[in-house]
Amino acid sequence: DMGVGILGLGIYVPEKILTNKDLEKMVDTSDEWIVERTGIRERRIVDPSMATSDLATRAAEKALAEAKTSPDEIDLIIVATATPDMFFPSTACLVQANLKADNAAAFDLAAGCSGFMYGINTGAQFIKTGLYKKILVIGAETLTRIMDYTDRNTCVLFGDGAGAVVLGECPPGCGIIGFNMGADGAGGDLLKLPAGGSRLPATAETVANRQHFVHMNGNEVFKFAVKVMGESAFKALDHAGLSAADVDILIPHQANIRIIQSAAKRLKLPMEKVIVNVDRYGNTSSASIPIALREAIDDGRVKDGDVIVAVGFGAGLTWASCVIKW
Ligand code: ACO
Repeated sequence: DMGVGILGLGIYVPEKILTNKDLEKMVDTSDEWIVERTGIRERRIVDPSMATSDLATRAAEKALAEAKTSPDEIDLIIVATATPDMFFPSTACLVQANLKADNAAAFDLAAGCSGFMYGINTGAQFIKTGLYKKILVIGAETLTRIMDYTDRNTCVLFGDGAGAVVLGECPPGCGIIGFNMGADGAGGDLLKLPAGGSRLPATAETVANRQHFVHMNGNEVFKFAVKVMGESAFKALDHAGLSAADVDILIPHQANIRIIQSAAKRLKLPMEKVIVNVDRYGNTSSASIPIALREAIDDGRVKDGDVIVAVGFGAGLTWASCVIKW
């Protein structure tokens, strides 16, 4: 039985940095508060000329290069995003056109910050069944476009970026060896962008009420995150026939350092085994896990044969994780 693994990984983050000091000039906040409560020091902010599909395309090009794969070999493009260029066409179709990946099917996936994990787990099935050979899974976000820069509860948390992987066959026992996905739609109200959809179409009133921006109950999302990060990781490990003691590297969704630390504690992992870059990028939603994985590889922290657990949570509410034998 062949495995399904990551053949190439690419990321793209905008150059422009928005620091906590910059935010102090925009809302009633402080560098100290943001660092202490979230661990975030700065985040990237996309250039006005670019949209999510542009970030996604750049990340995908790098992933294709690393995988030595040409765009016409790609059978499917999945873009996980909460910030598509527009409702339709899907961002995945825009990326398909940019890449000239003429043989690829394409669709977007909406699972908030769990989107990349949902995408990996979904994409892997098409390869497992033998239907497809090579799949691009991309997490790409321009969250700063849906931030209310008068709301200190949300605008300090999020940043822009993209990550992409090429999934394909790998030797038996390698690659994605376990996964878990879940949802609790009853918690959907805790984190949402209320207007612009069929429930609340755009009007002058929705704009005036700032309903086209992210609204979040931070406290409740925090409690949810702490609970599901550990649970989901345990379930994915169980699915792989492993336990937390087997984990070499934990790649948690980068939302808040305190959430990451409590997940590590739940899994009884020392922080040396946990990848953290929330300080430099903030929460990039579906892009956070591939960006963290790229940095971990480049820093020499990921070794052949390592057991990596990646776990995400987000709007929906949703959670998802996978175990990768590197
Ligand atoms: N600067 C200064 N003060 C602030 C700021 C800020 N940027 N933001 C909030 N505060 C204030 C609040 O108004 C509150 O003041 P009050 O007590 O006078 O009302 C006080 O700080 C404490 O607020 P809490 O919400 O209790 O602070 P907490 O320690 O919970 O931290 C935070 C808030 C950082 C939002 C935290 O709850 C969190 O990280 N939650 C999870 C959010 C998350 O991960 N979201 C992403 C999900 S993934 C996705 O799909 C997008």
